[in-house]
Amino acid sequence: MQPLPGFRDFLPNDCAARNYIFARWRDVARRYGFVEWDGPLLEPTDLYRKKSGAEIVDQLFNFIDKGEREVALRPELTPTLARVIAAHEREFKKPLKWFSIGQFFRYEKQQRGRLREHFQLNCDIVGEAALATDIELIALGIDILRAFGFTEKDFVVRISDREFWTELLRSKNVSTDRWDELLQVIDKSEREPRAKTIEKLGNLADPVFAILGEGGKSEKLEQIVDGLHTRGLSDYVDVDVRIVRGLAYYTGVVFEVFDRAGKLRAIAGGGRYDNLIEQLSDGAISMPALGFAMGDVVLGELINETPRARDAMKEAIAAEHKIDVYIVIAKEQRRADALAQIQQLRDRGYRVNYPLTAEKVGKQFQTAEDLGASLALLYGDEWPQVKVKNLTTREESLIAHQGLPDNVAKFFNVTASA
Ligand code: HAM
Repeated sequence: MQPLPGFRDFLPNDCAARNYIFARWRDVARRYGFVEWDGPLLEPTDLYRKKSGAEIVDQLFNFIDKGEREVALRPELTPTLARVIAAHEREFKKPLKWFSIGQFFRYEKQQRGRLREHFQLNCDIVGEAALATDIELIALGIDILRAFGFTEKDFVVRISDREFWTELLRSKNVSTDRWDELLQVIDKSEREPRAKTIEKLGNLADPVFAILGEGGKSEKLEQIVDGLHTRGLSDYVDVDVRIVRGLAYYTGVVFEVFDRAGKLRAIAGGGRYDNLIEQLSDGAISMPALGFAMGDVVLGELINETPRARDAMKEAIAAEHKIDVYIVIAKEQRRADALAQIQQLRDRGYRVNYPLTAEKVGKQFQTAEDLGASLALLYGDEWPQVKVKNLTTREESLIAHQGLPDNVAKFFNVTASA
């Protein structure tokens, strides 16, 4: 039996890499004053039908539940966020800075960088329209990737403004019913043959390609670049009007993050969606909002392809997985004594491992090395003393078994401050 196409098993190494990614996501989001929240994995299908746009609706994992409700596994978090904010808005001081880490499901064709489940970090700021907020959010996206050891040589944030495109559609009197479809064509134009895009755009093709050719200039985007320059982060961004975003609800500044080499799919994407909360609450609550999501799949690929980031991950995982103490049971008669002390050491919070059945001493020391233990404690002929071996310096000493946990604590205090 295989997992379903596009679904992953997470073996211990994969889980370690996932936890490493989550830890950095969480750490940097908190540095920016974001607090964590989450929503349900299953939502009414209508939530996405109304708000996310046709592309995502085609990709829903949806079904009818036993209560005859149309439901879908969440493909993204933003509609849930808008629903939650509309319901609980009064309980929080604005602006809200919320982040969330969770799994999402899209019935996409499995390909490099695209699976049918993935994890996302979502960071959103709600209740503030000032451009300073867009700058803060983009800076956060950059700093998250810097925390993995990436530099401006590894990735770029391509920023754009949907208003370039919505103004064009308005000036050409295109009915708003068609906006979503046309914006998606422009969004995909980079990946599609030009002839196909021209065919889909019809008489809009010329003005669209004219804007793409000019590269698009706007004061708003210049201010964003300046704001990032003040923080020393402007080398990480390029203004690029080709970024439109596939989701229907964006209203203003939008951005996507790519690897500099241009080999991979987007690492992250987001932007402003100032009308979504109002639309979802049927006009009851109106609040500006913006955010982005970063996925674990493309990020994982980029980490593995970038030596600095890959080594940083390996080192962090090795440090995280190290155990503190390995107990070598050299004489089976001492097993009960050893177990009593293992219990004491674990109660104090040390990571302790030992052989569950009788094993040769040499093999036990090998296991201690493999597990990255700092200390080995040997229970054998020396009893009532215990032989302590520092596995880094190879120094050995004998200590009395009474008070052994205190001696172990002293050892770790010394090495921690050294
Ligand atoms: P999105 O661009 O659809 O945006 O997804 C964000 C990121 O999730 C992508 O850049 C990509 O890394 C990852 N991702 C998306 N689909 C897949 C997939 N099938 N397999 C692997 N990774 C994937 C959103 O979802 C918006 N809701 C983001 C947002 C938050 N906007 C405002 N706030």
